[in-house]
Amino acid sequence: MTMTDKKRALEEAKKVVAWIEKDELTDAEKKQIHDESIENFNENVNPGWLEYRKSVSTDAAFIEWTDSVDHFEDLNGTQFIDCLGGFGIYTCGHRNPEILKTVQAQLNRYALHSQELIDPLRGYLAKITALATPGDLQYCFFTNGGAEAVEMALKLARLATGGRWYISTVGAFHGKSMGAISVGGKGAYREDYLPMIQQVQHVEYGNADAAEAAVKNLVAVGEKVAGIIVEPIQGEGGVIIPPAGYLKRLREICDQYKIALIFDEIQTGMGRTGTLWRCEAEDVCPDIMTYGKAFGGGIMPITGIIARPWTWVDKLVDNPWILGSPTFGGNPLACAAAISTMRFMLENDIPGLCKKRGEAFMARLADLQKKYPTVLTAFRGAGLLICMEFPEAEVGYAVTKELFSRRVMTAGTLVNAKTVRIEPPAVLSDESREAVITALDEALAAVKAEFKL
Ligand SMILES: Cc1ncc(COP(=O)(O)O)c(C=O)c1O
Repeated sequence: MTMTDKKRALEEAKKVVAWIEKDELTDAEKKQIHDESIENFNENVNPGWLEYRKSVSTDAAFIEWTDSVDHFEDLNGTQFIDCLGGFGIYTCGHRNPEILKTVQAQLNRYALHSQELIDPLRGYLAKITALATPGDLQYCFFTNGGAEAVEMALKLARLATGGRWYISTVGAFHGKSMGAISVGGKGAYREDYLPMIQQVQHVEYGNADAAEAAVKNLVAVGEKVAGIIVEPIQGEGGVIIPPAGYLKRLREICDQYKIALIFDEIQTGMGRTGTLWRCEAEDVCPDIMTYGKAFGGGIMPITGIIARPWTWVDKLVDNPWILGSPTFGGNPLACAAAISTMRFMLENDIPGLCKKRGEAFMARLADLQKKYPTVLTAFRGAGLLICMEFPEAEVGYAVTKELFSRRVMTAGTLVNAKTVRIEPPAVLSDESREAVITALDEALAAVKAEFKL
């Protein structure tokens, strides 16, 4: 980097700081931000982003600038009703005022931690999480992203059991770090990075016999299994709800073979599926559970794991850093957000609201399916984790694009492009829901005509 570059970097930074701190932008500034943002993404982020946006939007160039309750707003004040929910992070709404107030108060005290003194918020959040999770789940380890939490869960399972092998499922999504893609259900995310964790067997999702056979066969040939990892409902796989009793059977298998049962509740947890944790609906307690997304109230990124005492082995107590030591994991701002989120969620029965509003949404989808059976071939969901299914991925993309042009934001799922998710904030008003249904009605009619379905 030359001295000239540093001077330009300073100028750029000063310019942007002034815009962030400004209440109102002029039209000229808005245009400048718009044009420069596109250039910056192409030059310094990834030109693929704008290409991708073109595939789902009629105008790739909306610049996100503010948000509130159940919508995003672009630089020019165009509002989008949020039916994507940031892949599930906005359960408590956008910039929930109560959570924001707590985070702002903490920001005025101290933002990040010394790394050395006892940070009280981390302890309180761990206690609250232990109280709010099933069974004897007790010890928390906080991380920054979902994949990072999954890494901790995988490592802890090995540490606790001495086993090496993991059983995962077809269609699973656990993030994109090396461990997470190793147990992920889509080879395309692995191919370029091989080799990775070798000791993984994928079995059919929802089929407990297949999981049992995999464990049994590994044990029979002298291998040691660390655990079974599953999402209680597969989110990115296309909102796949396993048969009732599946999770219970996995619990029994893990008990029988003394291996760890890991539930990845990063997407299904924090009320999204109609109960605080999805495993509660099935009355099953895992040995290790991950959480994330909505845990920080849509304001701060915070994820983590909680584990039962038997997994918290002496080795980990003797050396608390052996599992991980993320600089920002469980930082005070993030913990303040998560504590406030838990308060908001429990005080206002947000899981119950997700259930109620999810049922209302699905009733309206049933009407639309009757009207457009050749386009909307199926829909399913639990709480506000809902997906619509289309005959092929192109049709799903077209519906997403039509919805976007009507200012409703949705997206496909990562593993299964034929499905489009509806994952709005729980605070989405009835009025907004009806606006979404009207837009969807029009979108389905347009796509039916376009594809001659
Ligand atoms: C079940 C599940 N696990 C893990 C992850 C990864 O989370 P992150 O994107 O924060 O790494 C996701 C993200 O969608 C998820 O749905």
